[in-house]
Amino acid sequence: MKNILVVGATGQIGSELTMELRKRYGNDHVVAGYIPSAAPKGVLRDSGPSEVADVVDPNMIPEIVKKYKIDAIYNLAALLSVVAESKPMLAWNIGINGLLNILETARQFNCAVFTPSSIGSFGPTTPRVKTPQDTIQRPTTMYGVTKVTTELVSDYYFHRFGVDTRAVRFPGIISNVTLPGGGTTDYAVDIYYSAVKSEKFVCPLKEGTYMDMMYMPDALNAAVSLMEADPARLIHRNAFNIASMSFAPEEIFAEIKKNIPSFEMDYDVDPLKQSIADSWPDSLDDTCARQEWDWKPQYDLQSMTVDMIEKLKARKV
Ligand code: SER
Repeated sequence: MKNILVVGATGQIGSELTMELRKRYGNDHVVAGYIPSAAPKGVLRDSGPSEVADVVDPNMIPEIVKKYKIDAIYNLAALLSVVAESKPMLAWNIGINGLLNILETARQFNCAVFTPSSIGSFGPTTPRVKTPQDTIQRPTTMYGVTKVTTELVSDYYFHRFGVDTRAVRFPGIISNVTLPGGGTTDYAVDIYYSAVKSEKFVCPLKEGTYMDMMYMPDALNAAVSLMEADPARLIHRNAFNIASMSFAPEEIFAEIKKNIPSFEMDYDVDPLKQSIADSWPDSLDDTCARQEWDWKPQYDLQSMTVDMIEKLKARKV
């Protein structure tokens, strides 16, 4: 990877991935692609090139790729699971028609492509605990439908046209720079903001709702390590299970309370979020990622909690 385009560079993952890539490959070699309603600000805007990159416009991506001689695209444009249920056609348009625009550009200009999948690509008939790499994928959300399709279309472009597509299935990502929006796992970010602001947290999911989660530094490392991995070792492509921690609301609450003893939490279950969470696995088996490209996470719930609280306090959120 010499010149990289990040599509969705101002989103939760994109904002930190763009900065991480700039650190590794040089500021001028990483273009922040954004939609006009979410223009980059601050250090993201000032540290390197940025371009309007709307995936649903078939002309924009090839123009940027030509202009900057892009050879790798991180395609992070997507609606998250809850918001996708209220705008299913838009979720499909961005997730799939947008992906096809990216893949066609990649085919033409010989770019590698990373388009993440998700724990949301699984459904209620998937084995729930330690979900295997290769298993049933019959999701019941539009988000999940777009993610399974993403995996299939990305593999198709690899086998049919030789486009170097690779991806992981991200769990809920916990971060302290840019908030997620409209996801089922967002509560695990919001809870830290409430704790640091000394507010009581109202949890939208009920006790005992387990989902896989990951701290942002591990998620960034996964994305970059996979794209740098030796292709000869990759048996799988789209997309690898990765995992670092699985917890239920009462467990993240208890962990935060160890650090902030006055913290309180109530439950007010959101039926849509609960039904989505109930359709997803409790935990994933990431053996293939560990074997094929040496995936290894650094953070668990305890170390992530200490770091999240420290960072949010320092930012005086
Ligand atoms: N974080 C996503 C969501 O909750 C799942 O990948 O929609």
